[in-house]
Amino acid sequence: MEKRSSFSGKIGFVLAAAGSAVGLGNIWRFPYLAAEYGGGIFLIIYIILVVTFGFTLMTTEIALGRKTGLSAVRAYHALNKKYAFVGYITSFIPLIIASYYCVIGGWVIKYLASYIGGGGTAMAQDGYFEGFIGGASEPVLFQFIFVAVCMIILFLGVKRGVEQANKILMPLLVVLSLAVAIYSMTLPGALEGVKYFLLPDFSHFSFMTVLAALGQMFYSMSLAMAIMITYGSYLKKDISIERSVKQIEVFDTGIAILAGLMIIPAVFAFSNGDMSQLNSGPGLMFITIPKVFESMGMGTWIGIAFFVLVLFAALTSAISLIEAVTSIVIDKFHMTRKKALALVGIVTFALGIPSAMAFGLLGDFSIIGFSVLDFMDFISNNALMPFVALMTCIFAVYGVGLNAITEEVALTGKFKQERMYRVMMRYIAPVFLVVILIGYVLSGLGVFKI
Ligand code: TRP
Repeated sequence: MEKRSSFSGKIGFVLAAAGSAVGLGNIWRFPYLAAEYGGGIFLIIYIILVVTFGFTLMTTEIALGRKTGLSAVRAYHALNKKYAFVGYITSFIPLIIASYYCVIGGWVIKYLASYIGGGGTAMAQDGYFEGFIGGASEPVLFQFIFVAVCMIILFLGVKRGVEQANKILMPLLVVLSLAVAIYSMTLPGALEGVKYFLLPDFSHFSFMTVLAALGQMFYSMSLAMAIMITYGSYLKKDISIERSVKQIEVFDTGIAILAGLMIIPAVFAFSNGDMSQLNSGPGLMFITIPKVFESMGMGTWIGIAFFVLVLFAALTSAISLIEAVTSIVIDKFHMTRKKALALVGIVTFALGIPSAMAFGLLGDFSIIGFSVLDFMDFISNNALMPFVALMTCIFAVYGVGLNAITEEVALTGKFKQERMYRVMMRYIAPVFLVVILIGYVLSGLGVFKI
């Protein structure tokens, strides 16, 4: 067994976990879901889910990891053999996510390359993004480049260097986002967008709002995906899990809100309040951001800076996704790291090709109303993750017992939110997750529309 390194200190752990959590989920995915599923009402449901569900599940995963000192596949098995299958399903999700994550990563590289080539004005025109993703070969080419960059970093093992760079580039991302968000909010007509994003309007509420917010919460916090268990296994015993989780939440949600403030008001400003523009789905960031930069009058430089930073956030997350799958393959099939890495890289790329072609060659093809990319995203975040989360609750309550977990959390002092934690784990979370899953299956079968 490889030796288990541990994080240097409290800040080391929080930053590493935040580095995994902060990625395309915050900057690309959160704003388009918030725009699509009701604005302020989505935001408030999202925040409630983060501080209740997200808190509970992240605490559980980190505590399980630290208690066992094992990665997910083995942690479930070690604590209770009957639940070993949860470890396997958990381990499968990052592969699905990695496959289409690299497609979006490719889009980021394409935009960066275009800015470097001086294409800022062209990118700000209507239809540019659709033209790009509608192409037959370009999206796959850029997806390939993104996967290749990840593989080179993973093969060279310069992961630590990347993490080091992350510590410098993340704060830069925050500063730049803050500047762009302020600019975007002061554009004429943007105020309506700020209101739409921040003020809850209950007429926009639907079951889908909750489902989408829940899926986003899992995604953004990197939950139900084996990763936080693994990170927990590196965590020293004298660091407070409870406080760390809260800091990760603030960081992760803060950046998501900032991205929302950067993108949504700008959509209102550039479309003269035409709400239908909000529904551009995965393309929202790629359509709006170039317009914002163009109107700032120094499009090229800001464009390059912004997409370099987003690329870094995406790379660190993608690398840890691929790394998570690789360590599982090594654990399970006793392969060498090089072989496992090559295998996972090839599978990630191959599995992602349909998503890359989703708006081009496969443009007419849809699965229960979703494009291939949206389907991969939906199935992993809104179906598989709630299922794993439900299993994790059952496992924690009946398989290991909540005492074992709360004791682990209380190693560094009183577990302040223990009452809430217990009630959530025992009653609220399982019931809620079952309702969500049934709703999901029924809608998938076409019984009702969510
Ligand atoms: N949370 C990441 C983001 O917001 C994406 C992600 C989900 C992830 N699960 C992960 C990253 C596991 C690394 C490991 O972009």
